[in-house]
Parts: sequence; structure tokens; C-alpha cells
Amino acid sequence: MPHPQKLLGMEIPSIKVQLKDQSQWKTLPPYQQLGFGKYFSDHWFSAQFTETKGWASAKVEPYQNMSLDPAAAVFHYGQALFEGMKAFRRADGSIWLFRPEFNSHRFNDGASRLCMQSVPEELFLKGIKSVVEADARWVPKESGCALYIRPTLVGTEAFLGVRPSHEQLFFVILSPVGSYYSEGSAPVKIWVEHNAIRAATGGLGAIKAGANYAASLQAALHAKKQGYAQVLWLNVDHQGIEEVGTMNVFFVFKNEIVTPALNGSILPGGVRDSVLHLLRHWNKPVMERRITISEVHERHLKGELVEAFGTGTAATISRIGELQWKTERMILGEQHQLSQEILDTLTGIQMGTLPDQFGWMRSLQSL
Ligand SMILES: Cc1ncc(COP(=O)(O)O)c(C=O)c1O
Repeated sequence: MPHPQKLLGMEIPSIKVQLKDQSQWKTLPPYQQLGFGKYFSDHWFSAQFTETKGWASAKVEPYQNMSLDPAAAVFHYGQALFEGMKAFRRADGSIWLFRPEFNSHRFNDGASRLCMQSVPEELFLKGIKSVVEADARWVPKESGCALYIRPTLVGTEAFLGVRPSHEQLFFVILSPVGSYYSEGSAPVKIWVEHNAIRAATGGLGAIKAGANYAASLQAALHAKKQGYAQVLWLNVDHQGIEEVGTMNVFFVFKNEIVTPALNGSILPGGVRDSVLHLLRHWNKPVMERRITISEVHERHLKGELVEAFGTGTAATISRIGELQWKTERMILGEQHQLSQEILDTLTGIQMGTLPDQFGWMRSLQSL
């Protein structure tokens, strides 16, 4: 029996749009208070997958609670996957997205790993377009702010046997955001976790499964209590550097720039990939390779470590000011020439003040 996906092809359901009455619109929060992920817009997008109908019931409607059976797969076996993207408002008022196809591909890589139905790229992009258009007034215009887009896929079938869910919900919610860290653009303090690990090669680390974040909470909480903003994860050997909680990481040494190679347990970040493009375009000596915390420590002691920074959609380019590894404290962050240059270039491309020489930007209308 062919899989229903094959039977149904990749048909995209038409999207019904049911907007809130203007009198019910929420008040927009002041941009200074945005922070990250605290406010949600007026509408959401959703579509359902069933084996009989394929993708159907695609709609934009007022943001509301959803109703699921308590036996739904997502609550028991963690079939939950998400993405993180941003919509930017340029000075002329137009709205732009950064490399949305990258996120669509990564989302579907994750769906495949979790044995979930893929979301056709057209449905992924059109779903985002329809809800961002409905909530266009939520895209902030202030510098450093954006509308964060959270596409999500969950298994919804009510069944307690351990097997892939036959029913799924794909949805998109929106949250206006400012700075990810409470430090704003100041350098962040990072705790190097030497006990717990987040992911291992062959596991789920290379996809944006909700389970990875559940695995990270305990160490992140511990780090926070010690005054650290995030955790730098090490490999199963407690030496190989992986990534920071929600960012990939780059180390700038005097003679080379290093980011951990994608070994199957690190998320292949869109900003990481874009930074690699930029650095190679600038003819900088950048390497994707295994790098250990001992190497970073030794080279820091020798004065070879110039700067370190994290890359991610939510956190953009974040300077690392301090690394605490066991009893060793590495203070960095005074120099930030390269990370600043990267941040300025990416921001310029996103806001349209610099040429989009890599063809990364998509206007909302073009989706
Ligand atoms: C674990 C993890 N690593 C890296 C990243 C950076 O990925 P991207 O640059 O695609 O936002 C994120 C954020 O999405 C993340 O959650």
C-alpha cells in the first residue's frame, strides 16, 4: 500500500482567513518591553494532516487555546518539532524574511527524523505569509526588533502505542521580539557544562526537536543560578565543543576562526551557515572542525583567543564575555571587531541598507 503522502501528492490546501474584529485587537506592547517570546499576536495559522485527507483545514484565525485529546502523541512520546525565523520591517515599511527556505528544509529534515509527515515547502511558506500578513502591524519597526515566527509540528493522534502518530498539526504563531538576552547587546557569560550532555551523534541534536530543549533545561537552570546566561555544551567525551543553548559558536584566534563541524549532534544553524558564507567571501581563514574546550583554554592562556561569539536567529550575533569551565574562568569580550562587522553586515542585508549579494532575503509578498 503506497504511503498516503504519495497517494495524495503534495497538494496544498487553500487557506481560509478568518480575522478578528478590529475592536478586539490586542494593544501592541511598547518595543522597549518586548524582550523575547512574551507577547503573541492576534492570529495564528494551522493545518491538519490525516491519512485520509492529507494536509487540510488550513486556516488563519484569532489566536486562541487549542483542544487536543489527552492521549495525543505529542504529550507522551515527544513528537514535537519547531523552527525559529524572523520577519523584519524596513524603513520603507516593507516586510522581509531571511532565508525562509533554509528553515523549511531543516524543518522537514526534522520531520523525517521524527517519522512525521513533511510539510510541503509551499504550505510552510504560504502559512507563514498568510498569518504575517494578517498581523503585519505586529512587525516592529524599531532597530534591533523583529517579529519572531514559530512554525511547529506536533503528533496529535490519540493512541498510546509507541509508533508514529498518523495525525499531525502544523501551526505558526508570532511574537514581536527585542533582545534575546537580558544583557541586551552586552557580552554574555557562558557556563561550560562538564557533566550533562544535550545530544549525541545519531540522536536528535541536529534537528529542532522539542526534546533537545527539555534535555537542556536542568543545566541551563543551574547555570542561571550561578549567574550565567547560557550553557556551552560539550560532546559525550566532555571535551569536544558543540554549541550554546540556542546558538552555534565561533572562536576567533589570531591565525584562524573555528566553529565546531556539523557532526550530527549540533543544530545546523542558518546564521552559522550565513556567517561561514560571509567569512569565506571576506577571505578569512575559517575552519569547521573539532575543537575542544582544552584547546580553547590553552590558547586563551597563551593570549591567542581574540574573540568568541554565538550565532542564532533569536540571539543574532552575541559576543561571549566569559566562559566558566570547571574552576577555570576565561574572561573575553573586550575585542569584538569581527563579531561587530558580521552583525552590521547581516543587519544591513536584512534591513536592506546593504546589497543582498547572496540572495538571502524574501519579501513577504513574494512568498
Ligand atoms: C540549539 C540551537 N543551536 C543553534 C541555533 C541557531 O540556529 P539558527 O541560526 O538557524 O537560528 C539554535 C536556534 O535556532 C538552537 O536552538
